[in-house]
Amino acid sequence: MKNNSKKLSILVTGGAGFIGSHLCQKLFKMPNVGRVICVDNLDPVYPVVFKKENLALLASNSKFYFYKTDICNKSDLKNIFKKETPDYVINLAAKTDTRLSVIKPEEFIEVNIKGVLNILELSKDFKIKGVSLFSSSSVYGNIKSKSRFKETEITDFPLSPYGATKKAGEVLSYTYFFNYELPVTCFRLFNVYGERMRQGLVLSKWVENIFNNKPIEFSSTKMIRRDFTYVGDVVSAIAKSLKTNKGFNIINIASSNPASLAELLRIVEKVTKKKATVIKRESNKASIEVSYADIGKAQKLLGWKPKIGLEKGISNYVSWFIENRLKNKKS
Ligand SMILES: NC(=O)c1ccc[n+]([C@@H]2O[C@H](COP(=O)([O-])OP(=O)(O)OC[C@H]3O[C@@H](n4cnc5c(N)ncnc54)[C@H](O)[C@@H]3O)[C@@H](O)[C@H]2O)c1
Repeated sequence: MKNNSKKLSILVTGGAGFIGSHLCQKLFKMPNVGRVICVDNLDPVYPVVFKKENLALLASNSKFYFYKTDICNKSDLKNIFKKETPDYVINLAAKTDTRLSVIKPEEFIEVNIKGVLNILELSKDFKIKGVSLFSSSSVYGNIKSKSRFKETEITDFPLSPYGATKKAGEVLSYTYFFNYELPVTCFRLFNVYGERMRQGLVLSKWVENIFNNKPIEFSSTKMIRRDFTYVGDVVSAIAKSLKTNKGFNIINIASSNPASLAELLRIVEKVTKKKATVIKRESNKASIEVSYADIGKAQKLLGWKPKIGLEKGISNYVSWFIENRLKNKKS
């Protein structure tokens, strides 16, 4: 039963994860949102205890409802759609580790393509007002563009199976717009970081190792530059899109201000007030060299601009890390 029948019900898959948990908190603050329905299977790809911590943060809010469900299980998902009748669906659930996708591509096809297909099918059947899907800068591969990547670039050459599944999700969603007029927005996210970010990413590994007096690994065979984007800015863009989710759109969400790994390290050392011991290593073949987004479309369609610069964002992350990982010694 809906308590707030005039208010929006938003179904967020992957809500126990990094970006999803921030998004749920953002939606709680929106007065026109009555219910935030989180669907997550608590995938053990990184410690489940961290996802449970995220859920514990969300659970005390009266707008929050949680289903431990896999998006690949269409009949369970259908029961949730039937019971909750959401207005909007935001699908963040995914297999996300680029390197792992090279080794175990089947799991990525299963969740990032077949799971997305379930979301699109049910959204069509239940006449959802708007679907948000999450793609990635990985779809651009190593494009030769010397300037910022526009959404209109050719994206036929992603380097990893992860990037390929994200591209497939975009293409599939266009067909649902074309055939059923299902409004879909595909967000191409660029290197999202911030409090509660998952382990295994460059920034989280570096900060963890620096505080534990361990050396950090530094990819040295590629001239890597990344368009690091603060999670608070990402969820603001998603929240804004609820008003504008019409037709079919692919939108870059990024800071549009890439940093090299050397610049990243300089900021991390400044913020942590520690000097890192650096071990050079070969770059991962399936990682793209440069990510640099043109965000003109996000500015035009959503009226959105990133607000948090890299130093401030890293400082927020490091403060959170000290409070939640160092003091509790969970990492
Ligand atoms: N973090 C980034 O830099 C980044 C960049 C580009 C795109 N994205 C996309 O944003 C989304 C969220 O990423 P994140 O960084 O928060 O990752 P995350 O791993 O923290 O969150 C993903 C969540 O999805 C859940 N999940 C995985 N498989 C599922 C399934 N079959 N059914 C239900 N739930 C499932 C996981 O348990 C997890 O809680 C993903 O779609 C990812 O591809 C993230």
